[in-house]
Amino acid sequence: MPAPYRAPATLLWRGALAFHTLTPIRFVNTSTLSIAYYDSAPRDSAAPVAILVHGFPYSIDTYVDVVPKLSAKGYRLIVPYLRGHGTTSFLSPSTPRSAEQAALGKDIVDLMDALSTDKAIFAGFDWGSVAVNVAAALGPDRCTGMVAANSCLIQNRQTAWATAPSPSLATRWFLYVLLTPQAYSALAMELDAAVPAFRYPDYVDIATNFYKNRLLYAPGDPAYAELAGDLDLLPVIRVPSVTLDPDQAPVFPATNGSSTAQHFSGPRVHHIVQGCGENIPLQSPQVFAEAVLEVAALGRRHN
Ligand SMILES: *[C@@H]1O[C@H](CO)[C@@H](O)[C@H](O)[C@H]1NC(C)=O
Ligand SMILES: *[C@@H]1O[C@H](CO)[C@@H](O)[C@H](O)[C@H]1NC(C)=O
Repeated sequence: MPAPYRAPATLLWRGALAFHTLTPIRFVNTSTLSIAYYDSAPRDSAAPVAILVHGFPYSIDTYVDVVPKLSAKGYRLIVPYLRGHGTTSFLSPSTPRSAEQAALGKDIVDLMDALSTDKAIFAGFDWGSVAVNVAAALGPDRCTGMVAANSCLIQNRQTAWATAPSPSLATRWFLYVLLTPQAYSALAMELDAAVPAFRYPDYVDIATNFYKNRLLYAPGDPAYAELAGDLDLLPVIRVPSVTLDPDQAPVFPATNGSSTAQHFSGPRVHHIVQGCGENIPLQSPQVFAEAVLEVAALGRRHN
């Protein structure tokens, strides 16, 4: 008879930590948003800054175990809620609830402007990868280094339908389901019972718009038209970059980095993260923190 399954001690410990959150939450206004964010050292204007960007459907608390590791190395960590998430809110009811790639990236640079932060390391996964890819591509003078899961997720929306290779349909079906009214109402119903991070009234609009706009199934906000057009040309990322592919994330199977090499013109190191799903900062916080330190060192060596 097989021995009864016993959760490893580390999993039980993880369960005990599950309610750790990043507090206090602060707020700052950009031209379009009131951004809710955690700041590990708001008064330390001399510390190097890293901006850590969460994915979907997650919250800033994804970074709860990464923050102390990088704080201990002297970093100031700024962890914002993406538009539509947590208590980040739109200032005007008339702003389109767009989650297009241009908007997610510009929000990062707008946040830096609002906080008078000149330069930072940008790090993210999933939607956060899209945000940091875009911010690094369009604002290389503001970015000292980029850490991104799945390398580069900037997409040319004009060809996005045409380029979906058929084997990927098996794992990327949800991208297409999210275009439908059925997915919209299912997500809305699920959220009625979910945690406050997802209770913001625009969450469902933002969540579905991200996937719709990536396939040009929904138009973008005209305010981002120029940036959006630049991104469809797939701008190269010039800043020092560390890219991470988790080996347990079926939507984006791990690669050795060669297939995305053409997106990078600066120094770049690529790693496969063993035994890890897409939420790298939560599942492998040490690996994620080390990638931030590695990209900082990469930047110093190439300056
Ligand atoms: C942000 O803008 C709103 C609306 O103009 C205002 O009520 C609020 O006080 C501002 N918040 C901050 C932190 O400046
Ligand atoms: C990386 O993977 C590709 C196939 O995806 C392969 O052709 C290439 O030889 C690999 N490169 C290295 C350095 O392993």
